[in-house]
Amino acid sequence: MKKTVLITGGAGFIGSHVVRLFVNTYPDYAIVNLDKLTYAGNLQNLVDVENAPNYTFVKGDITDAEFVQQLFQQYQFDGVIHLAAESHVDRSISNPMEFVTTNIIGTVTLLNAARANWKDAANDKRFYHISTDEVYGSLGEEGFFTEETAYDPRSPYSASKASSDHLVRAYFHTYGLPIVVSNCSNNYGPNHFPEKLIPLMIHNIITGKPLPVYGKGENVRDWLYVVDHARAIDVIFHKGVNGETYNIGGYNEWKNIDLVHLLCKIMDNKLGRNPGTSAQLITYVKDRAGHDLRYAIDSAKLTRDLGWKPSLQFEEGLAKTVDWYLANSAWLTNITSGDYLKYYEQQYHQR
Ligand code: NAD
Ligand code: DAU
Repeated sequence: MKKTVLITGGAGFIGSHVVRLFVNTYPDYAIVNLDKLTYAGNLQNLVDVENAPNYTFVKGDITDAEFVQQLFQQYQFDGVIHLAAESHVDRSISNPMEFVTTNIIGTVTLLNAARANWKDAANDKRFYHISTDEVYGSLGEEGFFTEETAYDPRSPYSASKASSDHLVRAYFHTYGLPIVVSNCSNNYGPNHFPEKLIPLMIHNIITGKPLPVYGKGENVRDWLYVVDHARAIDVIFHKGVNGETYNIGGYNEWKNIDLVHLLCKIMDNKLGRNPGTSAQLITYVKDRAGHDLRYAIDSAKLTRDLGWKPSLQFEEGLAKTVDWYLANSAWLTNITSGDYLKYYEQQYHQR
């Protein structure tokens, strides 16, 4: 069936994998990627699909109501997959307002355009909001986040995402907008911007720089390969039930320090270094303010209702990821030679 689908934030890390999956899997769909190309957006992520006949890139800002309304009128979207966001917790601590503007105002701007343009036949439409497990707050040593867990966001980033989730659900209850929401755990894989833990460590191991571990490195994250997240998004977009929320996770919990040691081991091997060489770079630095201790997702509903499961074991996914970064050193250099260097100075040299 032909559809025109708007994907926001498609030049970012997860968005680029979602765009690629949809462009390649659904030749009958017209995929429109709307992205502002902030520091995190990179069209290099999509060179393999940029000339596909069913793909269009539009540079623009989701907070610009007039522009978004015109875009909806021009393309008559059947569906929206909304990923555009400010996504880095540390940046939200130093600049919360940008997160409020993009993540909250931007989401409402899209909801308003969908509502205005989908007055009739709204049931054939779908507004899919991509969110995070961080809205649920921080777990102790036991337990999992389920779809019923009460929201308890603790960083400006997660508070802005929680707010946007509430607004999306409010548009379902108040206006009957056909929405679906998913909350995913930490992603990793190719094209991950090197301010986040795994690509930052890979970059610093390659270049022999210190590996900055926050606090004691005992915080736990549940890691999922980004292509498995994109597969889950495909399934939920097509088979999810309006008004429902689906948790997505890997049942793959790692303490940060153990993960960094595993990366050091994989990379010593791949770079032909003596075992233990890279681990000498590990440096404990000041902890993140309000650092959530542990995230862990229960994704049983998604598996039970829609049949999704992660496809990759972590060691395999991590090895694939390291191989991608080693084979794409130009991608990494392009990023790390620019603005990111300034951010890096500010983030770590004040600690
Ligand atoms: P990212 O930072 O890599 O990409 C965000 C993209 O949004 C960039 O391409 C950026 O240019 C674009 N963007 C930002 N502001 C915009 C605006 N005003 N208008 C249009 N485009 C704009 O983020 P990511 O890690 O790929 O995350 C994508 C989504 O998934 C986010 O909503 C995030 O909250 C969510 N999420 C991320 C993870 C993760 O581990 N990275 C996990 C769960 C959920
Ligand atoms: O859980 C999903 C979330 O995962 C997403 O919603 C966010 O967009 C995404 O950025 C990610 O958030 P985290 O804060 O968990 O990811 P980050 O890579 O920034 O940090 C992972 C862990 O590693 C966290 O406990 C902080 C720690 N860390 C991070 C960096 C950048 C370090 O110890 N040192 C570092 O230099």
